[in-house]
Amino acid sequence: MTEFARRVEAVSISGIREVFEAAGADAINLGLGQPDFPTPDHVREAAADAIASGAVDGYTSNKGTRELREAIAAKYDRDYSLSVDPGDAIATSGGSEALHLALQAHVDPGQDVIFPDPGFVSYDALTEIAGGKPVPVELREDLTMDPAAVEAAITDDTAVFVVNSPANPTGAVQSEADMREFARIADEHDVLCISDEVYEHIVYEGAHRSPMEFAETDNVVVVSACSKTYSMTGWRLGWVIASTRRIERMLRVHQYAQACASAPAQYAAEAALSGPQKRVGEMVDAFENRRDLVVDGLTDAGLEVPTPQGAFYAMPRVPEGWCSEVVDRGVVVVPGEAFGAAGEGYARLSYAAGTEELKEALEIIDGATRAVR
Ligand SMILES: Cc1ncc(COP(=O)(O)O)c(C=O)c1O
Repeated sequence: MTEFARRVEAVSISGIREVFEAAGADAINLGLGQPDFPTPDHVREAAADAIASGAVDGYTSNKGTRELREAIAAKYDRDYSLSVDPGDAIATSGGSEALHLALQAHVDPGQDVIFPDPGFVSYDALTEIAGGKPVPVELREDLTMDPAAVEAAITDDTAVFVVNSPANPTGAVQSEADMREFARIADEHDVLCISDEVYEHIVYEGAHRSPMEFAETDNVVVVSACSKTYSMTGWRLGWVIASTRRIERMLRVHQYAQACASAPAQYAAEAALSGPQKRVGEMVDAFENRRDLVVDGLTDAGLEVPTPQGAFYAMPRVPEGWCSEVVDRGVVVVPGEAFGAAGEGYARLSYAAGTEELKEALEIIDGATRAVR
């Protein structure tokens, strides 16, 4: 009988779903990994116009429309003064597919992939699916990833290390000095750095920097997406940028697995990237206010929480039994161990929820914390 492939048996469905299922229908959901804002109108209209005109009835080029890739290149020039050839970008089905392409193209069976622990759930799973060996690296006290820890974990078997800033699940932002170090490590050890920058615009102090700005070799692949920046998680549009030879390899995977990203989403993404950026700033301001509310509320409840500098997550240290007590009282939070073994003793709260809901949730959390202390 045909058995299931080992690389698939090594992966399980994300622990985050289990928490949603355990919570009641009227629970306050602080488990969600997506902004609670609508996609900007001009983005929706660009897609609707493209659909009405018939422009999206057929495949686009495998890499995506030329206009979208020009908008992606213009974005890197605008944001980081990075010169990206539109030919060196592939539009993907969200950041998720971009991560998959990058790992499939660069990891041989048995090779190591280093990533943050706690870290975004896909790094471990996509490494397994690529036949690689997950090498989780524990974070610093402030929940950033230490370049020295990454360097110490590199061996002859290492194919890739993943950097994620701003980070899910921690909200931590790596400093420019760290990003320079990651670039140096990629250069000196001749190991690929996959930089997952899907939260690049959701930063409260300072600005996001990319290891690609500092690397002297082509050993950095950048993954990003419209999903979080423009509140477009349902549209499924991300991209990968890298050197020509790396793009060519990733395109081999994309071409056969996906053909091209959804055409309507490509038109929407082009409008998002080249249109007014005001809505992004407004969303980030709203997230910053909620961040302050959540950090104050958790601190008042007696929890220790590193102040998140970006994304829309907070990750307090929590006593044993805390998560189930909070979920039982009607607030969905995700146990830290869903993001890796080193996440044990933490919980992830998403503040992509309205202020009134957050206030109510914080009151419940206060009561739950007292109950388990
Ligand atoms: C760190 C990180 N990378 C990538 C993704 C994937 O994003 P997308 O919805 O664009 O596939 C997510 C989604 O939650 C994420 O948190």
